[in-house]
Amino acid sequence: MMSVKSRVLEIMEKNRSKAISGQELADYLSVSRAAIWKAIRSLKEEGYQIEATTNKGYLLMDNNDILSGEGIKTYLQPEYQNNPVIVYKQIDSTNLEGKKIAAVGTRHGTVILAEEQTEGRGRLGRSFYSPAQTGIYMSIILKPQKSLNDFLLITVAAAVGVCRVIKKLTDKKPQIKWVNDIFLDNKKICGILTEAVSNFEIGMVESVILGIGINVKTNENQFPEELREIAGSLFSEGITRNQIAAEIINEIMKLSENLEVKTLIEEYKKYSLVLGKIISYNKNGEIYTAKAIDINNQGNLVVENEQGETYIIQSGEVSI
Ligand code: BTN
Repeated sequence: MMSVKSRVLEIMEKNRSKAISGQELADYLSVSRAAIWKAIRSLKEEGYQIEATTNKGYLLMDNNDILSGEGIKTYLQPEYQNNPVIVYKQIDSTNLEGKKIAAVGTRHGTVILAEEQTEGRGRLGRSFYSPAQTGIYMSIILKPQKSLNDFLLITVAAAVGVCRVIKKLTDKKPQIKWVNDIFLDNKKICGILTEAVSNFEIGMVESVILGIGINVKTNENQFPEELREIAGSLFSEGITRNQIAAEIINEIMKLSENLEVKTLIEEYKKYSLVLGKIISYNKNGEIYTAKAIDINNQGNLVVENEQGETYIIQSGEVSI
């Protein structure tokens, strides 16, 4: 059963910048005016800017940008309204949490988010800087019915999904640095870490934890010094993190249910930051230089060296 507070928040998120009277809320939720008043007070304590006017009632102001399941559901498509969305103020890592709950069993499409991560995980054993209230740190648990050999393809789909949303909600032009880093104006604003939970008894990948980290409004000087040159933020004025997160969930659920490999790769290539460029990559401890010429239907990077020989790179990182 949802609490009065949660139901009030849901209504206010759906009616941003519109005043609703205490009486209206009370009638709608069949609770007392006092219960509404208490819910509003507790939302304010959580940091929500709610204006109260004597004649009109309560109004959730436009500048509120607090992550919540209620705020996210406002933008989820009808078919995903029942996806569990769990939001933490602070957590070690949403991917770690995702792995824990996937191991004991959870629904396809469960989403975990946090306002802050203390041990945000990146690819290749790195960490992901996840300061409070300025980003989206989100893990989506997917349990695709089909074979999960297309592990890499899910990551590819996620990168495409994030780019679609950035393009749709802002006038910015995101680019993907193979395999799954998203860049704006040559700075990384988003990283994706896909992890699997396997069932060893039946030798299958049961769930995929798709972890997405986006710097939304982290100022340059907030980044640790070593990241300042390479990391950036989305800065999507006027668009809440709840909306961005929800639109990404919509896209990724849709893509994961219907992985049209050919069209997916075509779209991915359009966003590519590396295709046609000379890149370097690491293989067995050696650095090689080659030209990135294609992304194949497995999501691997195809490169060509000076001698005209082509190679397929399956994992790791490239630099431009
Ligand atoms: C990378 O850039 O190397 C990948 C970064 C992935 C970060 C996200 S934030 C949400 C999820 N939880 C984590 O601990 N990591 C991923």
